[in-house]
Amino acid sequence: MRKTSEIIWQDAQHQVLFEILDLLKEPTADRQVLCRLDDYTDYHFKLEEQYMLELDFPGRQEHIQAHERFRKEISQLLQDTDEPDAVFREIIATFLTEWLTRHVFGIDKELEAFILQSPAK
Ligand SMILES: [Fe+2]
Ligand SMILES: [Fe+2]
Repeated sequence: MRKTSEIIWQDAQHQVLFEILDLLKEPTADRQVLCRLDDYTDYHFKLEEQYMLELDFPGRQEHIQAHERFRKEISQLLQDTDEPDAVFREIIATFLTEWLTRHVFGIDKELEAFILQSPAK
């Protein structure tokens, strides 16, 4: 685990998440985009959770609970929707983007700072 690559992976993965959310607003977007968001979110959250565990991050429990809520939102959407129409996609893309923005610039920043100052990087 190297200091510079950690921050690069976190930023790059957040970027991908926001890109997928933008795709969700496109007229051509279908259920597959939601599935992709679900998969990539899981991949990203697992990696952050692995770092929190390995570095014994004090805010771990709260952070994992926030991830769980987001995971549930997406799986609920997938469960409730066969093919989301344009209006519905716009609403969920906006909701998920707002949630993710708050998360990424909130508690993810705390995690990033903790990783950076951790001697066990
Ligand atoms: Fe994150
Ligand atoms: Fe996170």
